[in-house]
Formats: sequence, structure tokens, C-alpha cells
Amino acid sequence: MRALPGPASLSAALLLMLSAGFHVAALKTPHLLGRHRLARSFSQQRAVFYKTLYFDQQIDHFGFLENGTFKQRFLLNDKHWHQKNNPILFYTGNEGDITWFCNNTGFMWDVAEELGAMLIFAEHRYYGESLPFGDESYSNASYLNYLTSEQALADFARLIENLKESISGAQNSPVIAIGGSYGGMLSAWLRMKYPSVVIGALAASAPIWQFTDMVPCGDFYKIVTQDFANSGINCSKNIRRSWMAVNNVSSTDEGLQWLYKEFGLCSPLKEEDVGGFKGWLQETWVNLAMVDYPYEANFLQPLPRWPIKVVCSHLQFDTGVSDKQLLHGIAQAVKVYYNYTGTAVCLNISQTATGSLGIRGWFYQACTEMVMPMCTDGIQDMFEPQVWNFQAFSDECYEIFGVRPREHWAGTVYGGKNIGSHSNIIFSNGGLDPWMSGGVTKNFSDSLVAIMIPDGAHHLDLRYNNQYDPQTVIRARALEVQYFKNWIKHSTIT
Ligand SMILES: *[C@@H]1O[C@H](CO)[C@@H](O)[C@H](O)[C@H]1NC(C)=O
Ligand SMILES: *[C@@H]1O[C@H](CO)[C@@H](O)[C@H](O)[C@H]1NC(C)=O
Ligand SMILES: *[C@@H]1O[C@H](CO)[C@@H](O)[C@H](O)[C@H]1NC(C)=O
Ligand SMILES: *[C@@H]1O[C@H](CO)[C@@H](O)[C@H](O)[C@H]1NC(C)=O
Ligand SMILES: *[C@@H]1O[C@H](CO)[C@@H](O)[C@H](O)[C@H]1NC(C)=O
Ligand SMILES: *[C@@H]1O[C@H](CO)[C@@H](O)[C@H](O)[C@H]1NC(C)=O
Ligand SMILES: *[C@@H]1O[C@H](CO)[C@@H](O)[C@H](O)[C@H]1NC(C)=O
Ligand SMILES: *[C@@H]1O[C@H](CO)[C@@H](O)[C@H](O)[C@H]1NC(C)=O
Repeated sequence: MRALPGPASLSAALLLMLSAGFHVAALKTPHLLGRHRLARSFSQQRAVFYKTLYFDQQIDHFGFLENGTFKQRFLLNDKHWHQKNNPILFYTGNEGDITWFCNNTGFMWDVAEELGAMLIFAEHRYYGESLPFGDESYSNASYLNYLTSEQALADFARLIENLKESISGAQNSPVIAIGGSYGGMLSAWLRMKYPSVVIGALAASAPIWQFTDMVPCGDFYKIVTQDFANSGINCSKNIRRSWMAVNNVSSTDEGLQWLYKEFGLCSPLKEEDVGGFKGWLQETWVNLAMVDYPYEANFLQPLPRWPIKVVCSHLQFDTGVSDKQLLHGIAQAVKVYYNYTGTAVCLNISQTATGSLGIRGWFYQACTEMVMPMCTDGIQDMFEPQVWNFQAFSDECYEIFGVRPREHWAGTVYGGKNIGSHSNIIFSNGGLDPWMSGGVTKNFSDSLVAIMIPDGAHHLDLRYNNQYDPQTVIRARALEVQYFKNWIKHSTIT
């Protein structure tokens, strides 16, 4: 998921993505739709096997005039599902290609055998291949009109009902929703809105409270800053100074040329690109905070273990150094993120993450229902001060998509902080993950619980187990499986 901070430079954090610092204005260029980058195969990237299937979904579940349908893609693995009424683990797809989420949700593959579970990964409409109007889906506001979380949840509910009817032996199978990031929000909401369809949900790193008036807008960037402050001496301080250093150096043509060379950028930096350049740096730090995993991994980018420690090793110097010395360190530091494999020819300030994520779709969602206020003050965080300005945000959304956000709708439709009447939802949160700022971090009842993973980044618990896993994530996964077994045992479907 990507965060959307204040205007001027409407930075954006893809939930999972996603993070901050992307100029919404950049969306006007259609190229953002398909981004690709080199990936090297990492040892822990395991092969997964599944059938790819399609289900006819109603384009509009909530009205009757638009009666068309589209093919929703889903992936199915039943290797360990041998017995009638065994459970189904259902991944509620988020803003991207479902095969990418399938590859990156090793937890489900790790527990399938123990639970005798069927695995389903369902793609979210408007992403990957699940396009309601084919290639035209993003062409204008009337075609984008059916890109909402409510429609996506209805897709999941209809798909589950259909699978249970059509798969022999699945009629009474208990279904558990699982998701991470925005996908985790969807898992929690699926259980809240369609409790007859799923017996419970694991919502990993799911910031269901990152909406207007629910949490302070500065918490997200404070967590990012803490990650850097705790990973090396002077690390966050030097990043905090770097913004002014960029302003200073970029004030001359010689300085712009120097930055272009020093960072190995793909195209020369012009005066008007400086805001975008700083937004790109900001988004890079946010992404690193999300994927600060304890082992080498390739989620948003191929990275070393504990990547922020490696980044900070390039920023451990006196906070009084010259602007160019400081920015030399910053360039070395960002190259940990963009050039760990040593294959980057140049750094492209229009790219920060995997091309498997649907940036444009997420921006549309952020510009309609998923309004997530973000702000910085430069004191409690290491970023340039930026207030949250809903009006400016709304204006920018209108300019891009021709629609305006509904600031309070997410709170109305999903209950805001008043969720205590629900049951059988696990909210897991990583202490290093900036999205913990909008997560549910307290227990409401025995069956509406929060699990904390202090040394975990963004949904670490959903990844494959790994020899470098900290004890806290091992414990979290064990608890999660225990809850699953308990729900299954007590599921009253007969
Ligand atoms: C998922 O992993 C398979 C290998 O198991 C690979 O072929 C495929 O490209 C991956 N998909 C994505 C979107 O990364
Ligand atoms: C769908 O709507 C069109 C146009 O209003 C109509 O001609 C058609 O019969 C409808 N189809 C169904 C299945 O309702
Ligand atoms: C949206 O685009 C489609 C095809 O590209 C077109 O048929 C339709 O009229 C457009 N609607 C509006 C409101 O522009
Ligand atoms: C930027 O320029 C100002 C004014 O010359 C100077 O005081 C400051 O030290 C420079 N660098 C940074 C990082 O602020
Ligand atoms: C950190 O910066 C301070 C000055 O602010 C300096 O005294 C100290 O030596 C620096 N630490 C390292 C490890 O460079
Ligand atoms: C990436 O690393 C390789 C190997 O160290 C180096 O040759 C290349 O110049 C680096 N790319 C950039 C953009 O710095
Ligand atoms: C930089 O990224 C943008 C957006 O993905 C792409 O359109 C452009 O071609 C890239 N530039 C280079 C030199 O790779
Ligand atoms: C919530 O309850 C569970 C089960 O007792 C416990 O493991 C967990 O630590 C609690 N979470 C919080 C945030 O206190």
C-alpha cells in the first residue's frame, strides 16, 4: 500500500506497497500502469503450484442497470485438501497481480498441510487480469466507477459461495480469510460484512484505522524515522538534513549535474524535477521501512537482510559534513535499495517498487474511498514538514480522475473504531512497519485480537518461514494457527 501525504507533493504510499512520496501528478502519464524491473531469484522464493481459474462476476453488485459481467481470476491449490469439509484458506487479493501475492504469502503454503487446507488466492477487480472492461477499464471515470472495496468484498463473497456449491466435498468447508496490507483490511472487512461466508479472518498489517480522524496523521512517518534512528548512529539525522542539502546543491546547474552523476540517474535532473527527486527519496525510505526483513528478500526490490542497517552504514558520519559529502552518503544509501544486485544501469526517479502492483488503481481508490491522511513535521520525523490538506488533495484527485474523495465514508461503511461487536478476527502488526500507525493494536475480546510482532516489518508473518525469523514472528504464526484450529473446531456449519 502506498501512503498519500499532503498536497504540493502529494506523496503516496501504496499500502503495500506501498508508501509515500509519489507525486499524484505523475499519474497523468499512463506509463505508470506497467512497470517492470530486474529481479534475481532468491533462495527462499519457492516454487508454487496452482490451477488458474476464472469466475464470472457481476460488474455492479449494488445496482441493476449495469448488468454486465467480467472474469475474475483466482488461483487454487488442493494438494493437501483430501477430506470432505476440510478448511479453505482464502487470500483476499489486494492492489496488484494475484500471482505476485500468491508468491509472497508463504505462510499459507507453510500451514496448508497441517490444516489439510485448500488454498485460494482471489484477484481484486481492476488489477492483474481481472479487468471489468478489459483494456478500457482505466480509460475514464465511468469505467472506473466499479473499483471500490465494497464491490471487491462482494466479489469475494460470491466467489466463496460459488466454490462451496461447485466443489464436491466443500459444501460445509469452513473458510478463513487471509490478507496482508490492504488485502488484510479486506479480510477483516469480509468477516465483518459477510460473517456467514468466512468463519474468521487474519488481517496482517492491516491499517483499518488509517482514515480521517481515527489516528494522528504523523504517526506513519514517525515509525519510518524510528526504524532509521534505531539502525545506525546519525542515520535519521543525516536524512533529515539531506532535504536542505538537496535544495542547496540543486540551486545551481553545476549542482544539478553533480546530483545526476552522483546518484547515477537515468536522465539529467532539471530544476522542476527537484520536488519529484525528493519525493522519490522519501518513498524509498518508506519502502525500506516496510520491507526491513531479517533475511535477504525480494518483495518490492531485491534486498540484503536487515536492509536499513546496511543503508545506515552509509550514513554514519558527522552531521556537520558538507552538503556534497552528505549527499554522497545518501546516494550510496539509496543504491542499497535500487542496486543490491549490482545490475542497475541507472536509477529512475519515476520508479520505486515492483511492477506487480497496480499503482494507478490504488491512486483511484485513495482518491475516492481510501482517504488516508498523512503528515510530517520535520521534528518528530526526518522528513520535510508537510501538513495534510484535504481540499488540496481533493482538487488534485478531481484533476486526475474527475471524481472527488469522500473523506468520511470508510469510517461509515466499516465502523471506524467501533468494531467491538465483531468476532474471529486477528489483527497482526509489525513493530517496524509504518502501517502499524493505522492498525488495531489492542484486544477487544477473546475473538477480536491483536498480535504484536515487535521486530517484524510489513506482514512478516505472512511470509515463508525462514531460518532468520525472530522468535516473535514464530510465536505469532503459532498463535494464528491455534486460532484457526479453534475457529474450525467451533464452526457451526452442519
Ligand atoms: C511467481 O513465482 C513463479 C515461480 O514460482 C514465477 O514464475 C512468477 O513469475 C512469479 N510471479 C510474479 C508476479 O512474481
Ligand atoms: C442487460 O441490459 C441490457 C440493456 O439494458 C438488456 O438489453 C439485457 O436484456 C440485459 N440482460 C440481462 C441478462 O438482464
Ligand atoms: C468511457 O470510455 C468508453 C470507451 O473508452 C466510452 O464508450 C464511454 O463513452 C466513455 N464514457 C465517458 C463518460 O467518457
Ligand atoms: C544549506 O545552505 C545554508 C545557507 O547557505 C547553510 O546554512 C546550510 O548549512 C546548508 N546545508 C544544509 C544541510 O542545511
Ligand atoms: C554523529 O554526529 C555527531 C555530530 O552531530 C558527531 O559528533 C559524531 O561523531 C557522529 N557520529 C558518528 C559515528 O559519526
Ligand atoms: C550498480 O552496481 C554495479 C556493480 O557494483 C555498478 O557497476 C553500477 O554502476 C551500479 N549502478 C548505479 C546506477 O550506480
Ligand atoms: C523510468 O520509469 C518510467 C516509468 O516506469 C518509464 O516510463 C521510463 O521509460 C523509465 N526510464 C528509463 C530510462 O528507464
Ligand atoms: C491479545 O490476546 C492474545 C491472547 O491472549 C495475546 O497473545 C496477545 O498478546 C494480546 N494482544 C495484546 C495487544 O495485548
